[in-house]
Amino acid sequence: MDATTDDHLVIEPSVLYVGTPVYLVVTENADGSPNLAPASSHWALGRMLVLGLEADGQTATNLAERPQLTVNFPAASQWRRVERLSAVTGRDPVPKAKTGQYRFEPRKFELAGFSPKPSELVSPPRVREAPLQFEGEVRRMTPGVDPGYYMVEVEVVRVHALPELVVPGSNHIDPRAWHPLVYSFRHYFDRGAEVGWTRKSAIAPGPPDTGETASCLSSPLDEIDRWEGFGGTWALRRLDVDGAVVSLCRCDGGEEVSRIESADPALLEWAARQELQP
Ligand SMILES: Cc1cc2nc3c(=O)[nH]c(=O)nc-3n(C[C@H](O)[C@H](O)[C@H](O)COP(=O)(O)O)c2cc1C
Repeated sequence: MDATTDDHLVIEPSVLYVGTPVYLVVTENADGSPNLAPASSHWALGRMLVLGLEADGQTATNLAERPQLTVNFPAASQWRRVERLSAVTGRDPVPKAKTGQYRFEPRKFELAGFSPKPSELVSPPRVREAPLQFEGEVRRMTPGVDPGYYMVEVEVVRVHALPELVVPGSNHIDPRAWHPLVYSFRHYFDRGAEVGWTRKSAIAPGPPDTGETASCLSSPLDEIDRWEGFGGTWALRRLDVDGAVVSLCRCDGGEEVSRIESADPALLEWAARQELQP
């Protein structure tokens, strides 16, 4: 193919939802009752979340008046409950643009089959069944270029996670245990298999299903340190002219999770001082 040909099509998609985790946002109505709404437009940097919320929703109305919320991330398996909320609004009367497609529903928790759980630092409750729950305070609401939406900047003040999502003894979410509900071009997806790591990945690479090794990271000794820091154990399996092989194992039962195979000089020096555990 020469440089002037383009192997892509020019198209006009109706939405640009490339794929973002769904969240359930809970805000407080004027009468103190909670409003629950699904959304997916957002991004996070540090402790800040930026949410893309329609201006005519009850959620945006509530946040302008009472700037506290919870942002709850459902698991992929909970998509049916999320979908039950797709044609309702907490706004009464229903805004003109939504007439015919949405109806007013004041009891959205019950409709979806979710239940409210009191928050610790903010007034709106969390969604008890959501594995990952953030409590937050709105720091700024900025109208969009298109008046139909707001960019809502939220400082996350507390994070709650199911214990099975947390690397034991750490503050890290185990990304292999976490299955967000991904909304992509108006379809729901689970995530796929792990395909790679960055040098900042918090957990030693090499999930059991790929048989990959940890040798892609900067220092094998750092990896062993990090693994121990998460409560895992290790065992030296081999030490010979080709290098050392170290298994990284779970703290419970010692099952091997991944393997470091390396001839890194610092690792060899360290391994020479350890006992082999075949
Ligand atoms: C999967 C899914 C994703 C959605 N994403 C967004 C979104 O990112 N922002 C938004 O404002 N509304 C989004 N919506 C639509 C709102 O949930 C809908 O407008 C709802 O009526 C808002 O409820 P409320 O008026 O009680 O706030 C989404 C809905 C679904 C089902």
